[in-house]
Amino acid sequence: MRETDILREATDYVRDIFKEDHTGHDFFHTMRVCKMARRIAEEEKADLFLVSLAALLHDVDDRKLSPETWEKKEKAVAFMRSQEVSESTIHAVCTILEEVSFAGTDSVVPSSMEGKCVQDADRIDALGAIGIARAFAYGGSHNRAIHDPGIKPKDNMGKEEYHKHISTTVNHFQEKLFCLKEQMHTKTGMEMAGHREQYMKDYLDEFMKEWDGIL
Ligand code: ADP
Ligand code: NI
Repeated sequence: MRETDILREATDYVRDIFKEDHTGHDFFHTMRVCKMARRIAEEEKADLFLVSLAALLHDVDDRKLSPETWEKKEKAVAFMRSQEVSESTIHAVCTILEEVSFAGTDSVVPSSMEGKCVQDADRIDALGAIGIARAFAYGGSHNRAIHDPGIKPKDNMGKEEYHKHISTTVNHFQEKLFCLKEQMHTKTGMEMAGHREQYMKDYLDEFMKEWDGIL
């Protein structure tokens, strides 16, 4: 079947692109997002092909990872054209990719149910035990401090400020990760985010007790 072939090719394409990533956006992140997005899509009765293709391609033109192709989603579009994906599907995927990223108070509610499935899945992967590992991997790869009590977290940042802001990884929990639960769009997203956020809060409590020498 043509759609299955395209998804298999897309999987090979992203495996190659992300094989060297150590910023928390490796191939396994993309595969987890794809699996989770499909699970949500089944519950929400969304278009499984569109959700899968957008999930597989959601990070290839990410603003931080590929700033030179980010604006026009050039890699994703070139890949889809190489697979003779219809122009209407390419357009629908690009809309999902434009809407997926967290951008502080300028974050967008995706305009389609398919976009909501992908955004919820991507954000679920930023939470919980895996979310903790990814945050510290990202922080380390960007030379950010683990924690510095002299640097306070900053709330309610807009898109440009959020992208320029230099902070610590522990602050990132408050600046972004603890905002995600409220921004989930689907029932599965809300349930999973609730569980994973609680796990992260318990972790941070433990972290602070160790920091303060109480434990
Ligand atoms: P989105 O997929 O919404 O664009 P990001 O790509 O910014 O989100 O985030 C992906 C992963 O990188 C998440 O696990 C997130 O916690 C981590 N991350 C992003 N920015 C930071 C940061 N400043 N400090 C620590 N981790 C970060
Ligand atoms: Ni992602």
